Amino acid sequence: MRFKPLAAACMLGTALSALSLPASAQDAEMPPFPKELLGDPAVEAEGREVFAKICKFCHGKSAYPGKAPKLNPSRYTPEFVYDRTTNGFRGMPSFKEQFSEKERQAVTVFIMSKGFSN
Ligand code: HEC
Repeated sequence: MRFKPLAAACMLGTALSALSLPASAQDAEMPPFPKELLGDPAVEAEGREVFAKICKFCHGKSAYPGKAPKLNPSRYTPEFVYDRTTNGFRGMPSFKEQFSEKERQAVTVFIMSKGFSN
């Protein structure tokens, strides 16, 4: 059988991330956030739409004061934002059922982008 380095690398990556992620993220597969994706204007635009559909009602300027914290992406990693969006946390709802993996990934890319503001 031929050695498949890509498959081996993927398996190693999965094993490593399962060790270092909090329990809430372990059951949900974490998609990768490479630089090309984080800088992709089309993905950013899709994420902006997802944010406008729902997130801004709790996190936006127009949200009722005190409903949710102002988002501060300089303190976040993409993995953190994706995990909160997917699994929720205390007052933050889970959006696993409402948004596809691609949409949750896009809103993460938008929040981490220069164009993001609360
Ligand atoms: C119903 C109101 C509500 C909606 C809608 C909502 N959030 Fe939240 N979100 C919260 C609350 C409340 C927290 C704070 C949870 C805590 O830490 O106790 C939070 C926390 C977060 C955090 C972590 C912030 C931090 O600094 O710790 C992120 C990231 C986040 N939300 C992203 C999103 C995204 C993306 C969406 C849209 C898909 C969204 N939220 C929609 C209420 C909401």
